[in-house]
Amino acid sequence: MKSKRFEELAKRPVNQDGFVKEWIEEGLIAMESPNDPKPSIKIENGKVVEMDSKKLADFDLIDHFIAKYGVDLSRAEEVMQMDSVKLANMLCDPNVPREKIVLLTTAMTPAKIVEVVSQMNVVEMMMSMQKMRSRRTPTTQAHVTNLRDNPVQIAADAAEAAIRGFDEQETTVAVVRYAPFNALSLLVGSQTGRGGVLTQCSLEEATELELGMRGLTCYAETISVYGTEPVFTDGDDTPWSKGILASAYASRGLKMRFTSGTGSEVQMGYAEGKSMLYLESRCIFITKAAGVQGLQNGSISCIGIPGAVPSGIRAVLAENLIAVMLDLEVASGNDQTFSHSDIRRTARLLMQFLPGTDYISSGYSATPNYDNMFAGSNFDADDFDDYNILQRDLKVDGGLTPVTEEEVVAVRNKAARVIQVVFEKLGLPTVTDEEVEAATYARGSNDMPERNMVEDIKAAAEMMDRGVTGLDVVKALSAGGFDDVAESVLNMLKQRVSGDFLHTSAIIDKDWNVISSVNDLNDYAGPGTGYRLEGERWEKLKNIAVAVDANELD
Ligand code: 5AD
Ligand code: CA
Repeated sequence: MKSKRFEELAKRPVNQDGFVKEWIEEGLIAMESPNDPKPSIKIENGKVVEMDSKKLADFDLIDHFIAKYGVDLSRAEEVMQMDSVKLANMLCDPNVPREKIVLLTTAMTPAKIVEVVSQMNVVEMMMSMQKMRSRRTPTTQAHVTNLRDNPVQIAADAAEAAIRGFDEQETTVAVVRYAPFNALSLLVGSQTGRGGVLTQCSLEEATELELGMRGLTCYAETISVYGTEPVFTDGDDTPWSKGILASAYASRGLKMRFTSGTGSEVQMGYAEGKSMLYLESRCIFITKAAGVQGLQNGSISCIGIPGAVPSGIRAVLAENLIAVMLDLEVASGNDQTFSHSDIRRTARLLMQFLPGTDYISSGYSATPNYDNMFAGSNFDADDFDDYNILQRDLKVDGGLTPVTEEEVVAVRNKAARVIQVVFEKLGLPTVTDEEVEAATYARGSNDMPERNMVEDIKAAAEMMDRGVTGLDVVKALSAGGFDDVAESVLNMLKQRVSGDFLHTSAIIDKDWNVISSVNDLNDYAGPGTGYRLEGERWEKLKNIAVAVDANELD
């Protein structure tokens, strides 16, 4: 006989997810592996001669890089001797100010910082995140992609995402050669929604850098780093080559952050028998050592791996926490989809949503799942109302704003008309009125008429050959009668010169103020302090369209 209850349980979405038992030798363990090195440091004549139980002679590339640039050696010996339980207590205690504890956390080694966060349960980690993230005001980031790389849809989706509150937007391609169009439509669409939104196009590194230097994107994020040498060198890279790439971005006034996350090393078969969190800790230290201002982490595209093992989702919060403990901006995952279960994906979101991070999601899909070219996201466009209601229920600012259908239709229509005229002025293939109409009301690419993709791809290559830059986009917008959007795109280009948005955790608000950890430093110190959802912002978040107004009932 079979149990009817078990029969029903077996049908639940969560049982379509994959789970594995820990396999310590292969690194299929989230954190607290018996194989993880014991924290240690020995410094002789200002040089690290031993780190995390490894002697200088045995250092690999990553150890050398971290020991040389990643640890504040002036305090390291003192901090390494402090009790890890005590340090964990200081982290989640609101009475110990962030600026004090950051001096200690930046003097730890990778194994020490892992030992400290391993003392905490997830609530304590959230308490620490609430205090330790560097920007006081939390926000979030969107993915804007579609199956056919339709530029009119990208423009409309970007404009909608902008009015819904996403301060950063990221696209990538279904077909690589569409990249210049995707970058262009995202830039123009987002600035139509709200001036000041930052955009990026995730691509192979040389193309991504070129689009940035041309002013067709505003920042870069998917510069990957890894926690073991074989994985790094598999991609023809070293910490130094990534550091040079980071400097290239900074030298052109472009914001950038690295990407890493638990699970990548074990997925690539080179975990060297260490836990996922320990290896990720090394990535976070590489980022710090390279002088980069921030990191996208939280497993990201490897989330299926920590998601399958015990304490995996806790490890993902721990890695976000380590990033902010090293005084880095964090774009904290909630990115690639990992579960069939709505309950499970919501629980995973709450780890970052409740305390707030610099970007709660590093890729909330602004399209339905089928259009997400990053392999789907933990939350997508069909979840907008759920997300807004979670904010309202809990009085938590998750970075999004309720909007009306009229506002969305109007801004999508404008963005579609804007990209229509930009294409015309830049001599790119025609955007028809039918496409503008479809993009205005579309849910996704199934609602869009087909474009001639061969013609588009050819024109995208020609656009690059002709040397089209952000300034040509400004001219096209102005000639096409959209001076307001022209001005916004020009303002984004001015940032390359002023460089204000290179500060840690920088975003740009609707009035063109750069909001970063310099002028909006997180000052959380317990109840009544830090970021509070109140005033005008709370009024907006409360105001969901479906709420019944008793005064308007007959
Ligand atoms: N480690 C390193 N890089 C990652 N990316 C995503 N997840 C990880 C990870 N765990 C980067 C890759 C990928 C892009 C979407 O983000 O570069 O192509
Ligand atoms: Ca992202």
